[in-house]
Amino acid sequence: MSPRSVSGKITVRALQALADAGQKLVAVTAYDALTGRLADESGVHLILVGDSMGMTMLGYSTTIPVTLADSLHHTAAVVRGVRKALVIGDMPFLTYQITPEEALRNAGRYLQEAGADGVKLEGGRSMAPTIARLVHAGIPVLGHIGLLPQSILTDGGYRIHGRTPEEARELLEDARAVQEAGAFAVVLEGLPVSLSEQITASLNIPTIGIGAGPACDGQIQVLHDILGLFEAFVPKHTKPYAKLAEAARDAIARYRDEVSAGTFPGEEQSFR
Ligand code: KIV
Repeated sequence: MSPRSVSGKITVRALQALADAGQKLVAVTAYDALTGRLADESGVHLILVGDSMGMTMLGYSTTIPVTLADSLHHTAAVVRGVRKALVIGDMPFLTYQITPEEALRNAGRYLQEAGADGVKLEGGRSMAPTIARLVHAGIPVLGHIGLLPQSILTDGGYRIHGRTPEEARELLEDARAVQEAGAFAVVLEGLPVSLSEQITASLNIPTIGIGAGPACDGQIQVLHDILGLFEAFVPKHTKPYAKLAEAARDAIARYRDEVSAGTFPGEEQSFR
C-alpha cells in the first residue's frame, strides 16, 4: 500500500490501520504553508510542525527559545497548505510541563486556533498523566521518548539513549506508559537499533523513529535535513536527498551577476 492509497484526510485511526497492515509510516517536518503543501503533495502520512523550527527557521542553536506563539503561528501556516496528511503541532519547552491543566489549555489552542490534528510532547512516564489529560479531552497526542531536545541541558547534550541495561529498561517503561496514557503513536529519537526493535515489538501503537534504526513502524526526518537545506549540522541519522542550499546559493548568485551586468531584467521580463 503506498502512502497515497488512504483516501481522504489521514486520521490517527488510519495511521494505526496502516501500521497494523505492515505499511511503514512516513513523516516529515514542515514549518510553513509552502513546505507543508510540498510534503503533503509528496504523499507523506504525517507532518510535524517541529520545534526544530528554532534551528531551521528562527536561527536559534536549540529548540528551547521557541515560544507557543511561534509554534501556533507556524502550525496554522502549515495547516493552510495541507489537505491530506495528519498535521501535528509540537508543543514547545514549558508549555506543557508545569501542570496538566496548563498543558490542556495550550494544547487546545493547536486544535482551535491553528487547526492542527493533534500535538506532540516530549517525555515518558513523567508526562503520562499529562498525555492522559489531553487525550481524555479529545486531543490526539504523539509521544516522544529517548533523546529529548528540550532536555539537552540536563541530559548533557545530544547523545544516543538506552545504551546501558538500566536506561534501556527505563525507556521501555516510558514507551509503555506513553501508550497506556493514550498516545496514538510515539517518536523514538536517538536509540540503538536493538532497543527500538524491542520497544516496537512490545507496543501496539506505532513507533516513529529518528535515529532509531529501521525496525520502527515509521520514520520521521527534519525536512531541511533531507532537502540539504540546513548545512550547519548534518546528523548521522539523516540523508540529504537533494542539495537545495547549494542550488539556492547558485540561483541567487546568477541573479546577482545578471543584475550587475545589466542583463536582468531582459526583454521577456519587461512591459511595453
Ligand atoms: O522538532 C522536531 O523536528 C522533532 C522531531 C521528532 C523531528 O521533534
